[in-house]
Amino acid sequence: MHILHVAAEIYPLVKTGGLADIVAALPNAQAKRGCDVRVLLPGFRGILAGVTELTPVAQIGPVFGAAAVQLLAGRLPDTELSAYVIDAPFLYDREGNPYVGPDRHDWKDNHRRFALLGWAAAHIAFGELDPDWQPDIVHAHDWHAGLASAYIRQNPSLKTPTVFTVHNLAFRGIFPMECYGELGLTAQFLTPSGLEFYGSFSFMKAGLVYSDKITTVSPTYAKEIQTPEFGWGLDGVLTERANDLSGILNGVDYDVWTPQDPKIARTYTATNQNGKKLCKRALQKDFGLQRDGESPLFAVVSRLAGQKGMDLLLDALPELIGGGGQLVVLGTGETEIEARFFQASQAYPGRVAVRIGYDENLSHRIMAGADLLLVPSRFEPCGLTQLYALRYGTLPVVHRVGGLSDTVVDTTPETIASGRATGFSFDRPESAALGARIRDACTLYHKDRGLWRRIRRRAMLQNFSWDDSAAHYEVLYRNLL
Ligand code: ADP
Ligand code: GLC
Repeated sequence: MHILHVAAEIYPLVKTGGLADIVAALPNAQAKRGCDVRVLLPGFRGILAGVTELTPVAQIGPVFGAAAVQLLAGRLPDTELSAYVIDAPFLYDREGNPYVGPDRHDWKDNHRRFALLGWAAAHIAFGELDPDWQPDIVHAHDWHAGLASAYIRQNPSLKTPTVFTVHNLAFRGIFPMECYGELGLTAQFLTPSGLEFYGSFSFMKAGLVYSDKITTVSPTYAKEIQTPEFGWGLDGVLTERANDLSGILNGVDYDVWTPQDPKIARTYTATNQNGKKLCKRALQKDFGLQRDGESPLFAVVSRLAGQKGMDLLLDALPELIGGGGQLVVLGTGETEIEARFFQASQAYPGRVAVRIGYDENLSHRIMAGADLLLVPSRFEPCGLTQLYALRYGTLPVVHRVGGLSDTVVDTTPETIASGRATGFSFDRPESAALGARIRDACTLYHKDRGLWRRIRRRAMLQNFSWDDSAAHYEVLYRNLL
């Protein structure tokens, strides 16, 4: 089976969130199962610098406002996987991240920058760009690649089946009507049952309407997005397509996320957890926290955005401190949340420490050194950090929503008795509910370290590897062929 993944990010070359981790790991898992998988990526600086053995495949010429566009092919680092890279310096050779400039504002020409991605996917599918390779399936990820299925649908002789995965419905790729004329798409699509969206148009909606199958990244989120509470105005479309919508849980690349990790102070295993103590001490030292083995050490590794419920945590901080806890935070995002964390670190010196920024290595050391990871998200399509935390025996504290509720088993008398507990969860996205659960976790930590170690062992033995998820995608593809 020949599969073309279409996406805007890939770990470790360009990453703003979990999407990049998945776009790196899923194709690898599929290749291991014998599929012929390629990835199509925009030629951002990090991609051009990181993909090896790049050679030209096709000269594309002027399109979407760029005079010189060519398609390159190369190899993804540390894999056998091929990648197509769209080299369009006028659109992609810029400071900042894939979506926003250094001023944190969206690039004004994002509609053209990402239309090119979907357009190139359709032309690769047609066999026009690479005479040596054509996909049987085009699998597009998030709004950035949402137009791939529209460009494919527009050509009646192009029958390549399409799968569209929603990683986060909150980002819908909405643009003003005036931009539509620049995309080369038929006006027939511009209706409420097409990609029109309340007087504008949406790349995400194009993916939802024109793809043959829709997936999202956890079973619970697949249900949630069909409701007004989580649907971002697209719940109607999703309900209509319920028969073609399924939730396939993300997997974890356990070669990258493992307590046998060379990035951490001391390695450890589920049966011999001693090394974790040293990781905790190293983390406390690194962050200038009191070197106190008796304090439960909570951590955050996250985008600091409304989605992630960081304001709830800030409001619940007195409970964490009152319970004898410590907190380390690694994140970047909204200015106001960053400022509030900074103030907290000043209010509780030696107990709360904050690093504003993005640091892949440090994120591993935090996963290893902390006792608990806080993920109080208001909504969470899947969430990867709680899965990473589980593997390092760092118990997740999560809002019971989306993928968080599919992956963390709350600690209750019943789950303790049946040996299933792996973390802590709470039902309402409110600081009081979070605070109460933080207190409970502190109490258990102080009271019964033997039980804590048993829960931790259980957490470390959870298996969210790609094997199952990759098999699910394969079944979906086969049904389309
Ligand atoms: P989302 O994609 O919504 O941000 P996920 O939990 O799916 O949430 O994925 C987040 C990914 O980004 C994880 O790999 C996490 O480790 C990483 N991450 C988030 N913030 C940071 C940061 N400040 N430094 C390093 N890694 C981070
Ligand atoms: C999105 C979601 C996150 C998910 C990730 C990878 O960024 O916010 O929950 O884990 O995509 O699918």
